[in-house]
Amino acid sequence: MDSVVTRADAQQQARFAEYWPIAAQALGELYGRADGFERWLQELREAVIAAAAQRPSELRDRDQLPSDTEWWAAETVVGYSAYVDRFAGTLRELPGRLDYLQELGVSYLHLLPLMKPRQGESDGGYAVADFEDVDPALGSLADFRALIGEANERGIRIVIDLVCNHTADDHNWALAARQGDPRYRDYYHFHEDPAQVDALERHLIDVFPKSAPGNFTYVAERAAWVWTTFYPFQWDLNYSNPAVFRAMSEVLFNLANMGIAGFRLDSTAFLWKRPGTSCRNLPEVHGILTAWRALLSIVAPGVVLKAEAIERLEEVLPYFGAADGSRECDLAYNNGVMAALWASLALGTAAPAYRLIDAAAAKPAHGVWVNYVRCHDDIIFSALSPFVPKALQRRAALQLAGQALDSFSDGRVFQEFDGVPSINGMAASLAGREQDHATRQRLRLLYGVTFALGGLPVIYMGDELALENDLSYEADPARSGEGRWIQRPSMDWRRAAEGAASGSLAGLVRDDLARLARTRAENPAFHAHAACELAEGQPEALLAFIRGAGAEAVQVVANFSMAATQARVLLDSGRGWRDLLSSREGTSETIELAPYDVLWLRGQR
Ligand code: GLC
Repeated sequence: MDSVVTRADAQQQARFAEYWPIAAQALGELYGRADGFERWLQELREAVIAAAAQRPSELRDRDQLPSDTEWWAAETVVGYSAYVDRFAGTLRELPGRLDYLQELGVSYLHLLPLMKPRQGESDGGYAVADFEDVDPALGSLADFRALIGEANERGIRIVIDLVCNHTADDHNWALAARQGDPRYRDYYHFHEDPAQVDALERHLIDVFPKSAPGNFTYVAERAAWVWTTFYPFQWDLNYSNPAVFRAMSEVLFNLANMGIAGFRLDSTAFLWKRPGTSCRNLPEVHGILTAWRALLSIVAPGVVLKAEAIERLEEVLPYFGAADGSRECDLAYNNGVMAALWASLALGTAAPAYRLIDAAAAKPAHGVWVNYVRCHDDIIFSALSPFVPKALQRRAALQLAGQALDSFSDGRVFQEFDGVPSINGMAASLAGREQDHATRQRLRLLYGVTFALGGLPVIYMGDELALENDLSYEADPARSGEGRWIQRPSMDWRRAAEGAASGSLAGLVRDDLARLARTRAENPAFHAHAACELAEGQPEALLAFIRGAGAEAVQVVANFSMAATQARVLLDSGRGWRDLLSSREGTSETIELAPYDVLWLRGQR
């Protein structure tokens, strides 16, 4: 045992030697000119060493495992994103649902915000009042620890949201700031001069133009406006203050040492402000993330960082770090490809998907995309610019909102950006208001492509049961003003009990997704870093690409139209091919895809 600990210590020291200079350099660029910077850096250094020393031995042992290097890139990893309450009720009940997730093939569980939220409205938990406690409605810290322990034992990694851009207005820091404590006032951005606020606003974009217009909120006690990019009760943190960086770093270390395997860094684009700019994706944001990645690599190297930057591709790519391998976030949401797949489905052409998949390949080699079909937010199409004309984006959006004569979707318009609506709705409702065979096929198509692309696929809670839009929010005054609640239904465990044999839509879709996960895990061609080559020259409705190489190669082909379409088999079909998803076999050079069908073809050996 001693020797293991000693080796772990030695590795920790080696990591310190490697990563501390990276962090120190990034922090020097961010804060080097602040008074007392050297002392501040020295104190941070001590905090990092202390956090590394406090890392529990079982987690340190796991840090040493070869399988822990880039575990998130493996073909065996499939994610699932869920709200604790809507999925399981409480943290204590959640372990009882892990069997269900494992049957689905899930080994990465992203739990949407669960830290103690603000009292009253909290933007679905994205207004955190205490980063050191969990939401009492979900349970206790002890329940949370027990859940992490149980999940880790089963090989399921728990990933949580770190709401790092803002705190709730009733967080202790905000309360102290409100009372005029100068230390905490500097944790936020206050402006006393309305002319200054107006000047800033001129360059900013509203994230919630309808439900929370404007980016500042008046605080009467301070006779000043505080920066609130999102809702008025979400106060943006001031990362130009090194104390904020330090405080949030401690939050990261503590949670990592509790056994959290990854963090979804919420609203990463907004962490730094500079007057006269849109205050999105500024270079300093990348400095913060470079420093966090390096510090975590010392304390908890297997912990993964995921950027939540729902921006255009050229803005998202830098969140992975640079092509020379310097790291920021290991994972980033592939929001452009997600929106493109919906546009392709709505328009019946694979063109948008081709364009965005091709462009998303420009990421640095070490970066891994999080591929997904739906999440708890609206689908925003602006990432399709400049690849898909605005008029087509708009047509796709209206199609998904059910506002076109030939539409099969039952989505809702949420808000509008640059003339293109963003869309709310559960995948199953967007995939077919009839909830019939075509709905199943469209869901299978979207997930079949998403699971096959290079990256880590994440299922959104309920999609595996084809859960439809949840309209109950409309009658709840606390939620009725927020259209995103339509895609946040509670799990339907009665439906989950229906197997595929019952022939119900839920049973069939769940079976489809479990098969995708299983088949993916069995084929190294689906490793995140395995080759992905788009195949041109297919009919317009078809998306085709080849994953992996040689005998292991898999040709993925997906039909986005409601007509049967012929695809060319691009594998060496001398000995024939087999569809890994349906076990269909053949030797022909072309193959017919039924409406919305997806095939994963492999050459016969
Ligand atoms: C992210 C979340 C979203 C939330 C916002 C503010 O975009 O996904 O749900 O409203 O951040 O925290």
